[in-house]
Amino acid sequence: MTQGARHVAIIMDGNGRWAKKRLLPRVAGHKAGVEAVRTIVRAAGDMGLEALTLYAFSSENWKRPEEEVNDLMGLMKRFILSDLDEFAANDVKLKVIGNWRALAPDVVALIDNALERTSGNKRTTLAVALNYGAQDELVRAARAAAAGGAITAEAIEAHLDTADMPPLDLLIRTSGEVRLSNFLLWQSAYAELYFTDKLWPDFAPADLKAALDQFARRERRYGGL
Ligand code: IPE
Ligand code: IPE
Ligand code: MG
Repeated sequence: MTQGARHVAIIMDGNGRWAKKRLLPRVAGHKAGVEAVRTIVRAAGDMGLEALTLYAFSSENWKRPEEEVNDLMGLMKRFILSDLDEFAANDVKLKVIGNWRALAPDVVALIDNALERTSGNKRTTLAVALNYGAQDELVRAARAAAAGGAITAEAIEAHLDTADMPPLDLLIRTSGEVRLSNFLLWQSAYAELYFTDKLWPDFAPADLKAALDQFARRERRYGGL
């Protein structure tokens, strides 16, 4: 029998198309996307999830125009600053995965502070994937495993950015695209996948609930019978 999901990850896609449909600039879609993040983080806690991992900026998103990259970084900073109190109120522990230490010094300082301020929170872990690419994560993990002497599956897993999180149960992607775009490649080995046409800014708690309900009806076999 499938247990309830402990760890859900979401590829939050479709902000640009959401804006385009409304004849708005792409940044308006990203702003609406931040609102959806707020709502879904709260809902995830209420639905009893231990961990929620959100793909916010991929290691490939640097290919976008400089203006959009700057808009995204600005929104990220404002989100972390303005939501610190909300994290405290909802007992949310922040975690950041990916090569975030390579980001601009002001962003790194902000994240360091937010990690420290939320480190004692226990109800839900919110992992934000920033400058994250799964291939990059795997290279870093393999290097660390090799430095420790043995490149085994256990050693690689122990050096993943998600090492201290529960196993990934459910991976959701919004916007109708059916690909992983370099997200959690190792962790999704036996995760259940869920794709929805909803654009990220339109993704509501009821949609998360629908995904979790479907997850509960899936039969996971891990290669066995
Ligand atoms: C997802 O929305 C947000 C990020 C990748 C940062 P997009 O910006 O990819 O939106 P679409 O795919 O162009 O609609
Ligand atoms: C994946 O979405 C990255 C994030 C949601 C942050 P993209 O929009 O960058 O993915 P592709 O380019 O469609 O594969
Ligand atoms: Mg996209």
